[in-house]
Amino acid sequence: MILGVNVDHVATIRQARKGIEPDPVMAVTLAILGGADGITIHLREDRRHIQDRDLEMLKDFVPVELNLEMAATKEMIGIATRIKPDLVTLVPEKREELTTEGGLDVRSQKKSINDAIKKVQSAGIPVSLFINPDFDDIAISKEIGADMVEIHTGVYANTKGKKQEEELIRVINAANHALNVGLVVNAGHGLNYFNVIKVASIQGLRGLYIGHSIVSRAVLVGMERAVREMKELIWKSRR
Ligand code: PXP
Repeated sequence: MILGVNVDHVATIRQARKGIEPDPVMAVTLAILGGADGITIHLREDRRHIQDRDLEMLKDFVPVELNLEMAATKEMIGIATRIKPDLVTLVPEKREELTTEGGLDVRSQKKSINDAIKKVQSAGIPVSLFINPDFDDIAISKEIGADMVEIHTGVYANTKGKKQEEELIRVINAANHALNVGLVVNAGHGLNYFNVIKVASIQGLRGLYIGHSIVSRAVLVGMERAVREMKELIWKSRR
């Protein structure tokens, strides 16, 4: 199972002063030393954290999977097809949100997402859709030509007790359903050092995409160690 480390929040700290540090590009080097199998950045329309220059620099030297999270807009499709990251993950985006709040509304935006998938794929880039753990959304994702899906684990991550157990079952069922229809399946959002184990144990998952908890731990213990500790947890849960 791969661990894709999202470094957006290193850029969030930099943008707090609009200066040059901490540089997410440097953080990526340390994340890779810690064992990151992939690096994710979300280039948002409002450029609140990651900047175009970060994407361009990372494209030049990241030796592992570079996953560009983005909204399915004309501007972003233009950037992705020019820079050519290794993977594009389409996500919904609202200016006022603090982070991506839910999965894509693949049902009502079927046509525009399908168009975006085709344009990105025609540049040779595989496309993943960030979706809720919902059977219909999985069927639509397959129908409109996604290569992969990333199942939203945010509700699981933000609940406790019985509700969390129910959400975990939803995530497991969704992952199995997506595998059965022939999609490659990832998961992510809100995963941390406490809740990751049960998700990492799901059979057949290709990878986990984790950002906030790793960057938060990195502030205290350093990026390399924060990534290594997450990798160790994931591997232990798969034995
Ligand atoms: N996957 C997707 C599609 C996301 O939008 C995010 C947040 O940028 C993540 C994973 C990582 O979420 P978190 O920062 O909560 O680990």
